[in-house]
Amino acid sequence: MPDPESAATLDHPEAIKGAPLSGEVFRRTMGRFVTGVTVVTTRFGDELHGMTANSVTSVSLDPLLVLVCVDKKADTHDMLMKAGVFAVNILGRHQGEVSVRFARRSEEWSHDMEGMPHHFAVTGAPIIDGCLAYLDCRTVIEHHGGDHTIFIGEVVGAGETSDADPLVFYRGRYGGFTDSPADSTAGDRRAAE
Ligand SMILES: Cc1cc2nc3c(=O)[nH]c(=O)nc-3n(C[C@H](O)[C@H](O)[C@H](O)COP(=O)(O)O)c2cc1C
Repeated sequence: MPDPESAATLDHPEAIKGAPLSGEVFRRTMGRFVTGVTVVTTRFGDELHGMTANSVTSVSLDPLLVLVCVDKKADTHDMLMKAGVFAVNILGRHQGEVSVRFARRSEEWSHDMEGMPHHFAVTGAPIIDGCLAYLDCRTVIEHHGGDHTIFIGEVVGAGETSDADPLVFYRGRYGGFTDSPADSTAGDRRAAE
C-alpha cells in the first residue's frame, strides 16, 4: 500500500498558484480523452433538430439509461426540454461533414434536417441515414449541471445500422480508430463479464 504522505505532489504547470483553474486548461485536458462522435436529434411537432455531441455516456443496464450533457445556450437545449425525446446517432468516419454541419452555425445550413436523409424512430426522433448505430430515448431526468443540463434518457429502441469505421474526436480533431495489436479482445472480455 503506497504511503500517501510520501507521494510527491504533481506540479500543475498550467495553474497559477491560488488561482482557479481556467476553462481553457480544463477543455484542453478533457480533449485528451478520446471519444466517438454523435448527433443528438429530436423532434417537437414538425420541428426537427440535431446537434453534434460527444458527452454521451451509457448510465445503466437496468433500466437502460443513457445521458447527454447539453449547453443551456444551445438551441437543442430548449428543443429537448419541450420534446422529451431524443435519439443518439453514432457517426461513422465517412460522416465528418455531418458532424461539422450540426456543430457549427452557417448561412449555408441550419440544424434542422433539411437535405439530410433520415428516417424516424419510434419516439419520432430522426435517425440520420448512414450512421453506425442509434439509440431512441425518452427523457426521464433533467439534471442541473452548471452551464449544461444532463439529460438522462430511457432507451426504448436501438439499432446497429452500418459496419463502417467510427468517427473519432481527439484534441479538437477528427480521425479514425485503429486496433491495438497488443490486446484487441479486451473490450469483448468486458462485454462478457
Ligand atoms: C465533436 C463535438 C462534440 C460536441 N459535444 C457537445 C456536447 O456534448 N454538448 C453540447 O452542448 N455541445 C457539444 N458540442 C457543441 C455543439 O455541437 C454546438 O454548440 C452546436 O452549434 C449547438 O447547436 P444548437 O444551438 O443547434 O443546439 C460539440 C461540438 C463538437 C464539434
